Amino acid sequence: MDQSDVGPDLAEILLSEEQLTKKLDELAAQIDADYAGKDLLLVGVLKGAVMVMADLSRRLHHKVQMDWMAVSSYGSGTKSSGVVRILKDLDADLTGRNVVIVEDIIDSGLTLSWLVSNLRSRGPESVEIAAMLRKPDAAQADVEVKYLGYDIPNEFVVGYGLDYAENYRNLPFVATLAPHVYGG
Ligand code: XMP
Ligand code: MG
Repeated sequence: MDQSDVGPDLAEILLSEEQLTKKLDELAAQIDADYAGKDLLLVGVLKGAVMVMADLSRRLHHKVQMDWMAVSSYGSGTKSSGVVRILKDLDADLTGRNVVIVEDIIDSGLTLSWLVSNLRSRGPESVEIAAMLRKPDAAQADVEVKYLGYDIPNEFVVGYGLDYAENYRNLPFVATLAPHVYGG
């Protein structure tokens, strides 16, 4: 893909496509080992997790199912409130299933901690989290990420599924935005 038209919008590339690829290989190997011979349902959180889900699931030497949820955090501004509304629920029944939630990023962790307890209440065998990115604030929330890509600084990032006003999701790397994009 040619990123020349978005180049001026970006401040810094935090994680290259090569770094993401290397981590995806490692995470897939871990998941393969942990779920060998077991049932596995990957639950992607729309829309940001689409890239991680596609790239991670293709690396598994494993029969998996995929399902999707869309949630929205109530709250003002850019911070999660921890109150979550389900916009699209799963099609799958979780009873007795091994679930891995696939996420793009954990910021405050409030959304995921709500999601984990919501899914745990549905009678699964297990619920774990795979997330490509984690910010330092996540340390304050009670979220245990079994499969983690990279810890990143506390900055707003785009690319690899992450957006600013729905743009930049298709970038194959993770980057910070130039101030002029925010209207600065
Ligand atoms: P929590 O509840 O962990 O929220 O605070 C995580 C959700 O917030 C969004 N988010 C971001 N989106 N760049 C983005 O494009 C970011 O730097 C960023 N930080 C948080 C994202 O939707 C995530 O699922
Ligand atoms: Mg998200």
